[in-house]
Amino acid sequence: MSTANPTSAGADYDRFCGGVKSLCQIDLTQYRRAQMERRLRTFARRTGHDDLDSYLGMLRNDAVARADFLDHMTINVSELFRNPERFEELERQYIPELLAGSSGRGLRVWSAGCSYGAEPYSLAVLLKEAGPRLAHELVATDIDQTILARAREGVFSEQDLANVSPARRSKFFTALPEGAWQANQELRTAVRFSQLDLLKDPYPKTRDLILCRNVVIYFNDDAKERIYERFFEALRPGGVLFIGSTERVNDSGRLGWERPGTFFYRRP
Ligand SMILES: C[S@@+](CC[C@H](N)C(=O)[O-])C[C@H]1O[C@@H](n2cnc3c(N)ncnc32)[C@H](O)[C@@H]1O
Repeated sequence: MSTANPTSAGADYDRFCGGVKSLCQIDLTQYRRAQMERRLRTFARRTGHDDLDSYLGMLRNDAVARADFLDHMTINVSELFRNPERFEELERQYIPELLAGSSGRGLRVWSAGCSYGAEPYSLAVLLKEAGPRLAHELVATDIDQTILARAREGVFSEQDLANVSPARRSKFFTALPEGAWQANQELRTAVRFSQLDLLKDPYPKTRDLILCRNVVIYFNDDAKERIYERFFEALRPGGVLFIGSTERVNDSGRLGWERPGTFFYRRP
């Protein structure tokens, strides 16, 4: 039953955002409203709730429903070497440059919004190939604990591996029954997964390379701007930010970002 005032369209969404913030410590107001509201209303309806007040009531009383909600509001689509030509650019140009500027130590890399691990394991492959004897530090974070547990397992579908060459498949992955593949132990131990909300938690420091791809597209412009400022701070001078293929850093000159490639930004 709806308790919303029918004349105040959208007010239940505002109440819902407040409720979710106190229940789950997630600030929905920093996500792009039209997209998120449509998504959550559709999901609420599918679970039998025509308005968000009654859906919020269920979330208050049901931990499983809260987990489903979180699973639904975070969009986890990914694959290994997503946009392979961009990963080739990373491999050919940026990783060698960063290694040359790192005085013989391994690279400090952060995959922010790593979903089920396809992105950090792709990075781990590149780092093992480019600097096999170096102690790289590869951290991978996401807001969603459930997806992180899956990421730690490192299990992928055949489709996830569409951009992985046969040589890399046989070196870094093991075939499992029913067409699945698992990242080898060597790859799994190379990545440290942890939960981090990009909107409120402290960021790792002095990174050589940050990947944040297909994550900030869900945030409003203010949130996005703040996140890019914080990435700038989190990079060492000369460090590189690699973003998604539909993204750009607005007004990048303001902070002083250099832009050596369409999807690559460098802190001078
Ligand atoms: C579409 S996936 C991107 C995966 C990978 N970066 C790629 O490009 O293939 C978006 C990820 O962002 C995460 N995410 C959403 N809001 C977040 C937040 N506030 N902090 C950290 N991660 C968040 C989601 O849980 C999801 O796993």
